[in-house]
Amino acid sequence: MSDAQQLKTLSWVAIAAGAGYVIGKKMASAGGSCETKTRGELIDGKAIAAKVKEDVKAATQELVALHGVKPGLAVILVGERKDSQSYVKNKKKMAAEVDFHTVDVDLPDTVSQADLLKEVEKLNNDPKVHAILVQLPLPKHIDEPTILKAIKVEKDADGFSAANIGNLCLKGGDPPLAIPCTPAGCIELLQRSDVEMSGKNAVVIGRSNIVGMPVANMLQSCDCTVTVCHSRTKNMEEIIRKADIVVAAIGKAFFVKGDWLKPGCVVIDVGINSVDDATKKAGYRLVGDVDFESAKHVASKITPVPGGVGPMTISMLMKNTLNLARHSIGLERIPLRRQQSK
Ligand SMILES: NC(=O)c1ccc[n+]([C@@H]2O[C@H](COP(=O)([O-])OP(=O)(O)OC[C@H]3O[C@@H](n4cnc5c(N)ncnc54)[C@H](OP(=O)(O)O)[C@@H]3O)[C@@H](O)[C@H]2O)c1
Repeated sequence: MSDAQQLKTLSWVAIAAGAGYVIGKKMASAGGSCETKTRGELIDGKAIAAKVKEDVKAATQELVALHGVKPGLAVILVGERKDSQSYVKNKKKMAAEVDFHTVDVDLPDTVSQADLLKEVEKLNNDPKVHAILVQLPLPKHIDEPTILKAIKVEKDADGFSAANIGNLCLKGGDPPLAIPCTPAGCIELLQRSDVEMSGKNAVVIGRSNIVGMPVANMLQSCDCTVTVCHSRTKNMEEIIRKADIVVAAIGKAFFVKGDWLKPGCVVIDVGINSVDDATKKAGYRLVGDVDFESAKHVASKITPVPGGVGPMTISMLMKNTLNLARHSIGLERIPLRRQQSK
């Protein structure tokens, strides 16, 4: 393979992982290590998400100025679930903040599958819309896979289509046009926290289609040696104890204990679980899958919950939308971050 071909192959993986132009050897030499002396440094997801957002906004302004194209994000919300309304509100707010064109499609929960498909088709054919997001879950009478499959792969905002997931997993070949947002956010957190990944042992706990499986593939693209644990895994503590990087995505409060961790490891806690807390006005608080209080004394870097992975997801959706808009006019999907660190 020529240098140019090699660079092309590497850069799509970097783009796919939200990693910038760095991957492989460059990443290995860029500094940062799992073995640092300071224990429990917080990885500030809010601050990093804000930086990603600024990058998206700057790249959007450039796209508009140079090519007259404004990234367009359409969000379809069916019904009146409060949690879905709140997620959609946050997505639309950030899309406005980065100067995207937005299209809102709000439908009653009585909408038929046929009518919902017609709405998707309209957006598929709208040249101003580059990314379509259908907020899940949909009402029970609608088949979610049928709706998601109707979204053109070129407008797959979440990167969940079989084509995008397939291309994410394949070595070489076409790059995915968009990548799942929460896993991409995990990689971006590691990258922007100067965590060296090449050659490190990464353990992903959870194998779901939306978090565990894609994040494991992305870590592998970043040259980690990856082990995936799930509900049938035996000797999980033993496996986790060998990890330089732990990504927990199972949905079980306080599951991973500090004494399961290798001293100096880096912990990315994707879990969002609510536990009763009488001291809070709401009567509950949100916690991760990792027992933060014990883990922070062992890990070198750790994400809090809330304020870690959570804020990254919407920023990465913006990044996908920008890249889909670029792809629509034949531009290379640029990574938004050009260096490993700083
Ligand atoms: N921060 C964000 O933006 C964000 C986004 C998405 C999800 N999340 C959170 O991330 C967590 C995981 O979400 P998800 O959608 O991936 O969940 P999911 O679809 O329920 O998958 C959970 C995974 O954890 C595994 N698992 C369950 N119990 C386990 C155990 N005792 N030991 C080992 N593995 C176990 C399951 O294994 P099997 O495959 O064997 O069943 C499954 O692979 C949830 O707390 C969710 O709220 C956060």
